[in-house]
Amino acid sequence: MKTILCIGAGYVGGPTMAMIARKCPGTRVIVVDIDAARIKAWQSDQLPIYEPGLGELVQASLNKNLFFSTDVAQGIRDADIIFVSVNTPTKMFGQGAGRAADLQYWEKTAREIKANSTSDKIVVEKSTLPVRTAEAMERILHSGNKTVHFEVLSNPEFLAEGTAVKDLENPDRVLIGGHATDTGRRAQAALADVYAHWVPRNRILTTSVWSSELSKLAANAFLAQRISSINSLSALCERTEADVSEVARAVGMDARIGSRFLNASVGFGGSCFKKDILNLVYLCQSYGLTEVADYWEQVVTMNEYQEDRFVRKMISAMFNTVAGKRIAVLGFAFKADTGDTRESPAIRVCRFLVDERAATVVTDPKALDNARKDLADLGDKIAYEPDPYKAAAGAHALAVATDWEEYKTLDYRKIYASMVKPAFIFDGRNCLNHKELFEIGFNVYPIGKVSLSHL
Ligand code: NAD
Ligand code: UGA
Repeated sequence: MKTILCIGAGYVGGPTMAMIARKCPGTRVIVVDIDAARIKAWQSDQLPIYEPGLGELVQASLNKNLFFSTDVAQGIRDADIIFVSVNTPTKMFGQGAGRAADLQYWEKTAREIKANSTSDKIVVEKSTLPVRTAEAMERILHSGNKTVHFEVLSNPEFLAEGTAVKDLENPDRVLIGGHATDTGRRAQAALADVYAHWVPRNRILTTSVWSSELSKLAANAFLAQRISSINSLSALCERTEADVSEVARAVGMDARIGSRFLNASVGFGGSCFKKDILNLVYLCQSYGLTEVADYWEQVVTMNEYQEDRFVRKMISAMFNTVAGKRIAVLGFAFKADTGDTRESPAIRVCRFLVDERAATVVTDPKALDNARKDLADLGDKIAYEPDPYKAAAGAHALAVATDWEEYKTLDYRKIYASMVKPAFIFDGRNCLNHKELFEIGFNVYPIGKVSLSHL
């Protein structure tokens, strides 16, 4: 029986391997991690991450052909194919601090693979990495004793959080980068055969390793760029009485542009967009491509501008002061259907509000534990309340930072009655019924649309 190992049991490693195990019942799939608590959680019915449909997917194969373990060395020895799906955060120290990818976890796994391998392996880069990282990995793997052959492939992951299971089941494409050598092509074919258990062959794309590595950074940069583009126009819409949703619809109906990822918002978050763009920027800078770097960096600059603009607008609408006013931030996750708060726009929004001495209270159905960790340094300057009605009671304003479905159907009459008047609502996701809220009595401030004010 073929054995697949995945090093790193995070948001990508766990769900991806659960899908492979489900679709390839004849393959043994082992997921290892140095974080024993995380591994224990994967083995229980309290998974370490929240993702719709993931519980059922894991349960279908757990301890049949899907195993979670902390024994990295044994896993390496047993495996034919090794996916590396460890974290590659932004480097926060030394050269490239704040931009470059921190490759320390990545390099450590390369050395572990080298130290524990006694038979030939296909090593698959699943993590998102700077272009030409595979070259460094190959150098480490092929240093010293050369009795074992390692073939390194790039197979970036395109799943989005909140829809991970759906995305894995039905991916737009599976990208497999390999070297144009006999062993490289054979390795690409072996990995393609794994995915072909459920992905149509015409959606399995093979390229060079470098194209594959760059395509992942490029895809995230393009997606984030669309959001920054529409967000930049949202500021102009607010000045000119154009409506950003109408503009997005009109623009998106052009088949060359497409309609998705054009929802103006308080800003994009998530563990990867900012990290991957800054990684791209750093890469361009290190090749002396200053103009290219500046071009992409503007996508991140625009996002920070949008997050700050959201709070500045709140302050200006609320008579230029929010000091001492209770403001309920609805949603802390970086998007709906996830408990993940990494780089969530709500973090910057809350910090800005606290700086302005607003009595800020955060509510979220899944992300309050993470919110407490993200804002731990603010101590009791900020409060956490799982019940949105309690969070809103006595508030001057509501600020929607995450488009949770349940926020669309709250009893806003009841909420309005419990708030200080004039009551404000700032919809950072354009997900509420603004006309209805205005009729209830709220002063409504959407993104990129005319505000509806009784004042
Ligand atoms: P994560 O932080 O959730 O998981 C990474 C795991 O790797 C952690 O559990 C960590 O303990 C483990 N790890 C680190 N070093 C290890 C080692 N030496 N041995 C064993 N385990 C080790 O990260 P993630 O969100 O799953 O992301 C992983 C990679 O995938 C990143 O490069 C990211 O950019 C990329 N990616 C993420 C997403 C996403 O939606 N989160 C989507 C596509 C691609
Ligand atoms: C993103 C990509 O969509 C995935 O393809 C990629 O694999 C992943 O990054 C990664 O590399 O980690 P993710 O960050 O999970 O996935 O979620 P998205 O759905 O892309 O949303 C990112 C952010 O953009 C969220 O804060 C979301 O609310 C925001 N967004 C999205 C908007 O503000 N407007 C939109 O129109 C779409």
